[in-house]
Amino acid sequence: MDYNVPLSPEGAVTDSIRVDSTLPTLNHLREAGARIILVSHLGRPKGTPDPRYSLAPVAQLLSRRLGADVPLLADPPGSDALMERVEAMEDGEVVLLENIRFLSGETENDPELGEALGRLGEVFLGDAFGAAHRAHASNVGAARAIRDRGGPAVAGFLMERELRFLREAVRDPARPFVAVLGGAKISGKIDVIEALLPQVDRLIVGGAMANTFFRALGLSTGASLVEEDRVAMAGELLERAGEKLLLPVDCVVATTLDAAADSRTVSRDGVGEGERIGDIGATSQELFSREVRGARTCLWNGPMGVFELAPFAEGTFAVARALAEATDAGAISVVGGGDSAAAAVAADVAERLTHISTGGGASLELLAGASLPGVDVLDQLGDEGGNE
Ligand code: 3PG
Repeated sequence: MDYNVPLSPEGAVTDSIRVDSTLPTLNHLREAGARIILVSHLGRPKGTPDPRYSLAPVAQLLSRRLGADVPLLADPPGSDALMERVEAMEDGEVVLLENIRFLSGETENDPELGEALGRLGEVFLGDAFGAAHRAHASNVGAARAIRDRGGPAVAGFLMERELRFLREAVRDPARPFVAVLGGAKISGKIDVIEALLPQVDRLIVGGAMANTFFRALGLSTGASLVEEDRVAMAGELLERAGEKLLLPVDCVVATTLDAAADSRTVSRDGVGEGERIGDIGATSQELFSREVRGARTCLWNGPMGVFELAPFAEGTFAVARALAEATDAGAISVVGGGDSAAAAVAADVAERLTHISTGGGASLELLAGASLPGVDVLDQLGDEGGNE
């Protein structure tokens, strides 16, 4: 599982989507009488126990969600104590191992750790879509170990759903297919843009990413965030994409980006020296919303502005609402990335969207056409799969 969830300073899970999304898998397995040993990481501890990254809050949340005690087991894979505890499990019981990144072998995909994990079970079930771009002991090594012993390595319902919407919907989309990309940087999304460009009917770019494109158009961006080393690449993309690529035509600017900012809306060629772009303007909101509402398939990754701050939230919320309206009208909407998922929740439209991905880096890599080690290692991907 990918239970790498955000925690409050008091140690409470502040966003439970990654846990809640695995409940269909867990309930199904429990009803079938399976004995379930959950393995996950949380944060990036350095191969040694660190209480700040304990999975205890996740064990508590799971216990509440399942209505059954889910104990957190601190004994490491390979220890007699853990093996004895696992052998004593009852049908339908669920246990959670402590953060697997407390062991240095995890991120190194140490075969010994993979083997030790593999010895705990008869079936490997991969539902950690959010970590599928990593080749670690818990998601690749353990699966291999179980397969080597003749056991199956299958996808869980979450993994299956993520692959269906992120891969299949993009491969064979109902048209028009519109992609909306935002967020801070082009650099992290360049491969996604490259991969999507030939597929989409429209590629909308907002957020601070758009600033780099503005610069490539020769516009002044004031004190806004710009990736100087990507300006030439942005220019080349603009040329190649032609009419397909839609940029904001106006922006909300202020000298400081904070909750009390004195903001104003300007045409994209009217950004003053010392001003920073915090959001797309009202005309761009209308333009982007119209495109999104007309889509039959819409993919959204990355906010249009600093939506956490009220003066710069409206552009992102307008896109989120348009996406919900398109979905109400029968379109397939897929949201990737933690920020856009949080924005969909803040805009109160999350329930109306087709699929909100639990993967950040994993969803971007998949959209960019990369294969994911945590998927490749599975031999059964469900109805939509391709490996079997
Ligand atoms: C994520 O949050 O993207 C996954 O859980 C992977 O975490 P990582 O980037 O620390 O490997």
